[in-house]
Amino acid sequence: MNYTFAQYQESAEYIRSKIGDFTPKAAMVLGSGLGFMGDVVKDPIVVPYKEIPHFKASTAPGHKGQLVFGYLEDKPVAVMQGRMHHYEGYSFEDVSYAVRVLRLLGADTLIVTNAAGCVRTDWQAGDLMLITDHIKMFSESPLRGENMPEFGVRFPDASSLYTPALRTLAREAAAELGIELREGVYFYCYGPQYETPAEVRAARILGGDAVGMSTAPEVIVAGHCGMQVLGFTLLSNMAAGILDQPLSEQEVLDAAEACKDKFSRLVLACLKKL
Ligand code: HPA
Repeated sequence: MNYTFAQYQESAEYIRSKIGDFTPKAAMVLGSGLGFMGDVVKDPIVVPYKEIPHFKASTAPGHKGQLVFGYLEDKPVAVMQGRMHHYEGYSFEDVSYAVRVLRLLGADTLIVTNAAGCVRTDWQAGDLMLITDHIKMFSESPLRGENMPEFGVRFPDASSLYTPALRTLAREAAAELGIELREGVYFYCYGPQYETPAEVRAARILGGDAVGMSTAPEVIVAGHCGMQVLGFTLLSNMAAGILDQPLSEQEVLDAAEACKDKFSRLVLACLKKL
């Protein structure tokens, strides 16, 4: 289904009635393992997705399904605790709906994190990757349908969706913390099944460094409406076929848990520099 601009406005107005004149600087979509950052927001105002007109609820395990407004590192933020995924049955437009609403509420920056499979054989599970670009050309765009000029142009440029200045800032933050930060291309796959070894080889040949089932739709929509974007991937596991072992969700969750301290320190250090 295609939303109307009025629907985005209704969602924003409902949230506005809860948060008063609070204006989030950064919207944060946190994937596996980092959802807890919503719990450490100062002066939080929590708005459950199910209360917000036109919002869909996330069904993914470990995803809470609420927006938390407040302060992290003294920066006004809106943390999405729980994201929607296409594999849950949502359209790409549903998946990226909240980004536009947060844009209407004043956010000019999107910080996205995810867990993904590591395609590079010279990297390791547990490494963090700064997303420099993505590949999502085998599935439809979240911008499909009538364009909404209130948000952006019909044919938006995608040359630097992951804002170069924010990538520089992330490199500096990682260096200051002594955290090794890989850089690479996120290759979007529909899921929910993990990739086959042949698909992982294909992703590698096409230029992907990580394979995952999220992030790219939200980033396309953020770029369309003029937001700056900073994205990080936790390489939670070696992608299918690299090691002689099956992939499991437990492996992803365990890696997310093991890396959450390092990962959250990096994200907070970036926020501080915004
Ligand atoms: N593939 C796709 N999505 C993922 C993976 C993976 O290997 N690990 C975590 N999310």
